[in-house]
Parts: sequence; C-alpha cells; structure tokens
Amino acid sequence: MNDEVINIKNEALSQIMDSISIDELDRLQLLYLGRNGKLSNLIKKLKSLPEIKRKEVGILINEAKNTVIKEIVSKKNSLKDSTRVWFDPTIPGIKPQTGHLHLITSAISEISSVFERIGFVRMRYPEVEWDWFAFEALNMPGDHPARDTLETFFIDTKPHPKFGQMVLTPHTSSGQVREMKHVKVPPIRMVNIAKCYRRQSDVSHTQMFHQFEGLVVDKNISIVNLKGALDYFAQNFFGKQRKTRLRPYHFQFTEPSFEVDITCDICNGNGCKVCKEGWLELGGAGMVHPIVLKNGGIDPNVYSGFAFGWGVERVLMMKAGIKIPDLRILYSSDLRFLRQF
Ligand code: DAH
Repeated sequence: MNDEVINIKNEALSQIMDSISIDELDRLQLLYLGRNGKLSNLIKKLKSLPEIKRKEVGILINEAKNTVIKEIVSKKNSLKDSTRVWFDPTIPGIKPQTGHLHLITSAISEISSVFERIGFVRMRYPEVEWDWFAFEALNMPGDHPARDTLETFFIDTKPHPKFGQMVLTPHTSSGQVREMKHVKVPPIRMVNIAKCYRRQSDVSHTQMFHQFEGLVVDKNISIVNLKGALDYFAQNFFGKQRKTRLRPYHFQFTEPSFEVDITCDICNGNGCKVCKEGWLELGGAGMVHPIVLKNGGIDPNVYSGFAFGWGVERVLMMKAGIKIPDLRILYSSDLRFLRQF
C-alpha cells in the first residue's frame, strides 16, 4: 500500500503544479482531501491491513495529506499575487506626509552661513549658565538696574563659590567671556546662536527665544570693522540695497554702544507709514568694554573688539515681512501654522 500512497501524492502534486486557477485548486483539494477524496479513502482501507503495517502506512498517509495541503495553499497564494487588482497609474497618488525644518531653524542656518562666509565660526555655549558669565563678567554688577530688565530664570540649586547662582542664559552675550577664555589668544571671530530664556510671555515675547551674538577680537579692531560686518550681514541676509546705521545707545558690556538700524524695505530709507523715518531697529552692538576683555583674560591695551547681539525671531520677521499677531504661536506646534512655511 506504500506505493499507492506515494503515487497518489505525486499525482496530486503534479496537478497542483499545473493548475492555473483558484477554482481548479479547490477542486483538487476536494478530489484528494475531501471526505471521499483519494487520500481520505486510503485511511478507510487501513482497517484491512495487518496490525503492524497499519501504523507505518497511517503516518505515510498523514504526511502525504500535509504535503498536499501545504502545496495547495502556497500555490493559491502565488496565484493571488499575480492576479492582483489592475493598477491604474493615471489616478493621482496619495502624497506621503513630509516634515520640514521649523522656520526658526532655517533662519538660524541661514544666519550662520552668512557669517561663516566672512570667517566667523559658529560656537555654542551653555544654556544653563553661571551668573558670572551672564552678568558679572559683562560688567553688570549685582545691583545694576539692567539686571532687572533681563528678568532672568534662576535655577534652584547651590550657588557656585566663584561664579554665583545658576541661571538660564538670558542672552547670548554670556558666550563672550566663555569664548575669550576658550580661545585665550585672539583672533576671535565667533557667532553664538542659541536659545535664551526670560520671564516674559505676551503677544510679542516668548519665554524661550533665540539670539545670535557676534564677537570679534583682534589687534586694531575698530568701529569701521563693526560697520563692515553689519553691512555685509544686512546685504546678504536682507538684500543688496539695504543699508545699516549706528545710533548711540548704552550697554554695560560695550563702549561705545549702539542700536543698529536697517533701511526699511518698503520705502528704502525714505520714510513711509510702516517705518515712519525710513529705518527699522535691528538690535544692539558696540565695541567690547575693556573690563569685559580683562575678565576674559585678554589685554585691552593690545586687543580690541566688537560685538553685537540680535534676536533671530525679530530679524526673520523683518526679512519675511511677516507680522505675527502673537509670537507664541511660533512654538505652539500648531501644524496649521507651521505648514505655511
Ligand atoms: N545682550 C543684549 C540683550 O540681550 C544685546 C546686545 C547688545 C549684545 C549689545 C551685544 C551688544 O553683543 O554689543 O539685550
């Protein structure tokens, strides 16, 4: 009977191989494995075999049944694959969702690439900083009123014996003295672009925002170099026709200090309804105060430098001509807003 089982199995397998439709396979399944199927009928015949043969043939029939069903299933699957629904290439596809950089992240990389072209190196300094780097070293003693205006976040931890309390950097200027101590011997040409934190939240302020700080220290650095760098940035970031001007101002860490203005893009400096006098305010700048150089370990009798520190959000809004009614939306993760950029 062994031969009979093997013959039926081989016959089934060759028919399965030749079959070309699911219906045909269903028919073969019935023919071999159905209640009166060829392999099932063999089981019925087992009774007539002598006791010792029964087990051996039984196993053989079961193996044959398993092989046949396995082949039928795999053939069915392969037929299903090749007879998939017809694909119409003219139907518009479903666009996968793709993300993109946040508009502030793009602005940061654009700003750093403008400065890199004139030899500035992008640096990063701690976001969690000691009071000394954020204030004292910048010539802002503890009781100085300017320190109130920065509305700093203080970290509730043990003060450093030399550097005082721990704070979240309220401005990127805290990177100035760190850079001087890091480089030790000028020249320095760095741009520090980083997150800043202040206790302020309203339509035009977010508690976390970004600034970019430029610092150049070398022999014979003068206001002319400062003006040249600012003009280069203004023309390369905002547009060739833009000009800057320096307006006297006061900062503790620069002497002299300036507010930097840029010609209005609407009236080109002639005066219009938006800017009134033809100029828009960009941010602060100045010649590094000798005390700050000293605190950074640099001899102010040999070296001089300039610095500037502006808001990334501010320059981006100015460039794009976007007026956002509530600046906090920038960091709200609202996709309806973010998808526009
Ligand atoms: N740190 C100042 C602020 O946050 C901005 C600033 C002004 C930075 C003048 C400078 C500078 O480097 O020279 O308001």
